[in-house]
Amino acid sequence: MAIVLFGGEKGGTGKTTLATNMAAMLALKGSDVILLDTDRQGTASFWATVREETEVEPRVACVQKFGKGLATQILDLADRYEEVIIDAGGRDSMELRYALGVCDRAYLPVQPFQFDIWTIRQMDELVEMAGAINEDLQAAIVLNRVSTNPSVREDQETRDFFREEGFAHLRLLDGVLRDRIAFRKSARDGLSVVEWKRDRKAAREMNQLFCEVYGG
Ligand SMILES: Nc1ncnc2c1ncn2[C@@H]1O[C@H](COP(=O)(O)OP(=O)(O)OP(=O)(O)O)[C@@H](O)[C@H]1O
Ligand SMILES: [Mg+2]
Repeated sequence: MAIVLFGGEKGGTGKTTLATNMAAMLALKGSDVILLDTDRQGTASFWATVREETEVEPRVACVQKFGKGLATQILDLADRYEEVIIDAGGRDSMELRYALGVCDRAYLPVQPFQFDIWTIRQMDELVEMAGAINEDLQAAIVLNRVSTNPSVREDQETRDFFREEGFAHLRLLDGVLRDRIAFRKSARDGLSVVEWKRDRKAAREMNQLFCEVYGG
């Protein structure tokens, strides 16, 4: 049982893509999972509604919650469900802070072109602050939308940079998601990319991340 957060300070980095895919993949494995959308844009809820309306099985339960009282509501969901996945909105929101205070693991997607020292340092500090009340919090950066062009060495360059800078509270996951249309198209159909079945490479990348997040 775990409370897993997909969050971060920037918009459009892939939080909802990761949260919805992980939720569907847990459901496929028979887990009793709840997807908690704390973003007022409601993108994860929209994905769950499309899934519901098109009668995709397995179903993925999704609720929206915002503002004060969120920490208590998250803990309450954790009592009722085996797995809680939180999609926190972009920006340094109140929801992100509450969720960091109670989650077991936080995954912060970053796109290589956004991978700057300032952003990562901010995240490192945010996790450090959350760690003061949530001692066992584990946090990791996930590289998303890495170029599929092998001559663009974004992945390795980012890893070198990360190692050189050395962040105290963040590690970098081995798995990356590359920039693939499959992630957008599958989401539009209320599916995970592994259910969409039209891009094996995309599915493999998501499976690797799933293994890192949930241990296989
Ligand atoms: N690896 C990828 N390849 C191609 N498109 C991607 C990838 N990851 C995400 N996208 C697309 O980028 C857009 C932003 O992704 P997503 O909605 O997951 O980000 P977000 O961090 O949840 O954004 P927000 O901060 O607005 O909540 C979406 O259209 C999504 O389909
Ligand atoms: Mg989102």
